[in-house]
Amino acid sequence: MTAYSQLLETLPASPKTWLITGVAGFIGSNLLEHLLKLNQRVVGLDNFATGHQHNLDEVQRLVTLEQWAGFSFIEGDIRNLDDCQKACEGIDYVLHQAALGSVPRSINNPIATNATNISGFLNMLVAARNARVKSFTYAASSSTYGDHPALPKVEENIGKPLSPYSVTKYVNELYADVFAHTYGFNTIGLRYFNVFGKRQDPNGTYAAVIPKWTASMIQGEEVFINGDGETSRDFCFIENAVQANFLAATADENAKNEVYNVAVGDRTTLNDLYRTLQAALAENGKFNENAPVYRDFRAGDVRHSQADISKAASKLGYAPQYRIKDGIAKAMSWYIDNVG
Ligand SMILES: NC(=O)c1ccc[n+]([C@@H]2O[C@H](COP(=O)([O-])OP(=O)(O)OC[C@H]3O[C@@H](n4cnc5c(N)ncnc54)[C@H](O)[C@@H]3O)[C@@H](O)[C@H]2O)c1
Repeated sequence: MTAYSQLLETLPASPKTWLITGVAGFIGSNLLEHLLKLNQRVVGLDNFATGHQHNLDEVQRLVTLEQWAGFSFIEGDIRNLDDCQKACEGIDYVLHQAALGSVPRSINNPIATNATNISGFLNMLVAARNARVKSFTYAASSSTYGDHPALPKVEENIGKPLSPYSVTKYVNELYADVFAHTYGFNTIGLRYFNVFGKRQDPNGTYAAVIPKWTASMIQGEEVFINGDGETSRDFCFIENAVQANFLAATADENAKNEVYNVAVGDRTTLNDLYRTLQAALAENGKFNENAPVYRDFRAGDVRHSQADISKAASKLGYAPQYRIKDGIAKAMSWYIDNVG
């Protein structure tokens, strides 16, 4: 029995109160769905900067009335300390997901990214520490590896940040570490590597590659590849990220004040990803034979990314259940039903 399957068995018998910040977003709403299905109580905080009410509505449709009654939503902003303090009242486990994602967004507007991702993060740390929560797990990022060339990425070897976004995510880790040493408030940072799955927003300038390409392919639009297509990523299906969050939230003290890679340990080039998406669409009876359009490399992008997940495996018991093709097969049917 894995650590995760054991946790899934024990959680429903001892419901806890969880706070998910960024609950109306992609990762937040998936965490919400899983926790409610496990009969947990959940408080959600979001200001709808990039999240959507329709994500919450969809979760409501997927759980029972009783489970939905375990959810309370606060429309609020992590840049406001009062909102953070209100959200942290009576909370056992915090899963802090709220942030402004996207490297290009941070290059276009570093001030906005800094305000939410650094000041908002600090507010959440202070509020959670004051509320004496049992654990604080936060969304860190593989972008913290910056220009470090080594592959696979091992937690302690990071390079220089390549974008304002990666600065903010690195500062989160620095603050988390200082809170451990200064206040004895121990946290866990999860360095996500390109998470994908249902409810990841396909729309807008800053959409992530899998939802953006999938939506374009479904709608018969051109797909642009930035660079030569040999840029590679360790794409991580959402179910793996959910697992990592639950294991981190309930981890022993000796696993805390650490950061962990959350990925699969695979490496997929953008050219491979394009073919995989085309094949998954074809399996769903949607044929798109178009060739991609290549354009310039994008500023701030890391060239290759692949995680060493052995630290999360040994200290958290993390064992990803989905590789990229399994995840895409699951996500594809959601995109077909929801795009357009
Ligand atoms: N998706 C990925 O591949 C990935 C990779 C690395 C790190 N991350 C991190 O994971 C977290 C979740 O990302 P996601 O992909 O679900 O993005 P998302 O944009 O779907 O979700 C972020 C949520 O945070 C909310 N939010 C933003 N600013 C806020 C504020 N000031 N106050 C309250 N709520 C606010 C948004 O409205 C949104 O609902 C983020 O911290 C992101 O940086 C994601």
